[in-house]
Amino acid sequence: MTSPPDLTLVRLVPAVVLAVVLLIVLVRGAVLAGRYLRAGRRLRPVLRRAWRIRWTWRRIARRVGLVQIERSRPPWWSNHPPGTVITRELVPSIRTAAEPWGVRVDVSTLGRLGVDELTAAAPHLADAWRVPLIRVAQVRPGLVRLRALLHDPLIQPTTWTEPAEPAAGLEVWTAGVDADAEPVTIRSSGVSGIVVAGLAGYGKTSFLNARFCQLAPSAAVQFVLIDGKGGPDYDDLFTRAWLHAKDDPRRVRDHLAKVRDLMVARQRSIRAVLGVKNVWHVGPSAAWPLVLVVIDEAHTFLNETKGNDADSKRLDALARETARLVEELIRKGRNVGIQVVLATQKATGDAIPTKIRDNCQVAVSFAQRTSEAATAVLGSDITNAPDEHPRRLQDPAYVGVASMVAEGRPGFTLVRTPYVPDAVADAIARQTAHLVRDPLTLLPAGEVTVDVASR
Ligand SMILES: Nc1ncnc2c1ncn2[C@@H]1O[C@H](COP(=O)(O)OP(=O)(O)OP(=O)(O)O)[C@@H](O)[C@H]1O
Ligand SMILES: [Mg+2]
Repeated sequence: MTSPPDLTLVRLVPAVVLAVVLLIVLVRGAVLAGRYLRAGRRLRPVLRRAWRIRWTWRRIARRVGLVQIERSRPPWWSNHPPGTVITRELVPSIRTAAEPWGVRVDVSTLGRLGVDELTAAAPHLADAWRVPLIRVAQVRPGLVRLRALLHDPLIQPTTWTEPAEPAAGLEVWTAGVDADAEPVTIRSSGVSGIVVAGLAGYGKTSFLNARFCQLAPSAAVQFVLIDGKGGPDYDDLFTRAWLHAKDDPRRVRDHLAKVRDLMVARQRSIRAVLGVKNVWHVGPSAAWPLVLVVIDEAHTFLNETKGNDADSKRLDALARETARLVEELIRKGRNVGIQVVLATQKATGDAIPTKIRDNCQVAVSFAQRTSEAATAVLGSDITNAPDEHPRRLQDPAYVGVASMVAEGRPGFTLVRTPYVPDAVADAIARQTAHLVRDPLTLLPAGEVTVDVASR
């Protein structure tokens, strides 16, 4: 004999289920409210947008065609008549996250709904979500990332901030952020020549200052700073430089000749001192520092001077000698840790000799007025990249934005570079001035001989 079930307990089940559901809703609500309160004023609108995207996803996905219809037979235990076909609407599942620039939506691919279908639907999703732009990228098989941008990071100026690890910048150059606010780096290891070009006032010097600020705190870097403009731009940075000069062509030639002597001495001694043929295999160090030669307004020293008077001839001879030295440093300095950065308004052959420019492994272009100027610095491939073309950047909103070939990315990338206030760069130069060494004195005695014949 079995006893009948306790009816009071059975009656309690719906109440218990309701209480559990209510508790889950309350806890979830409290978590969301806490997240909302903790978010700053800037992030709250993004959080609201992210929630709306998640809560309306199934409906919006159906409306923009991101739905897959599946036909199947009902399971044998269902009470559908035999032979019935049932259809189900499947929508890809998503996860959302609020980022400073907008909402990140990770979509799991489903059947035939992948990156191509999401790319095609992106303009409609942008309308539905009321965002100006959605970028689509396949993160890994099965996962596509949509970036619903509320703010275009390219037109939002950023200011340079000190990185947590100063030495991390030796192998890579942290250039700024891309249109998705993702960090962009350019290669520095194994690089001996970099060209930075762009119209006057679009951020070349600030870009070089950012690199200076990244590298100055490292004892494994020595600077040669040359400012062809001759103004006050670099005055305070000179305190952190091994060699420095303004628009004095003779002094510049002498400094470059000294760097060449260093290069020759390093070539002779690298195997004995480092045990390798390429310093980048072990990385620059305080004893064998990377020598960064920055030549701002480089065309000042490389332009040929026409004229038959004695002064023109003297200047022309100096320019040719300087060009020869720069060309040699870029061609041979890579393995011994010598890197030359040339900044100029125009990188056409009349400003920078092509045999110098074309040997530079890295090129960066701020706004340019003509296709010819853009092609001169970035190469002819830039004509196939209209979205990243430097001519597009001729707008004050794009001061500080440059087109470049970034590490690990195909084609060209537009990068918002950080602005470096003069006071910040000056303070870093002062605080790190004690790190200045003459790299020639760091080499073993007897290796340093001045090659007068080559001058
Ligand atoms: N990354 C940046 N973000 C925002 N504003 C910037 C940025 N870089 C530069 N600027 C602004 O543009 C001005 C000019 O910048 P900068 O001196 O670096 O230009 P430049 O390209 O070196 O010009 P020039 O060819 O005349 O030397 C700066 O004083 C600053 O106000
Ligand atoms: Mg400048």
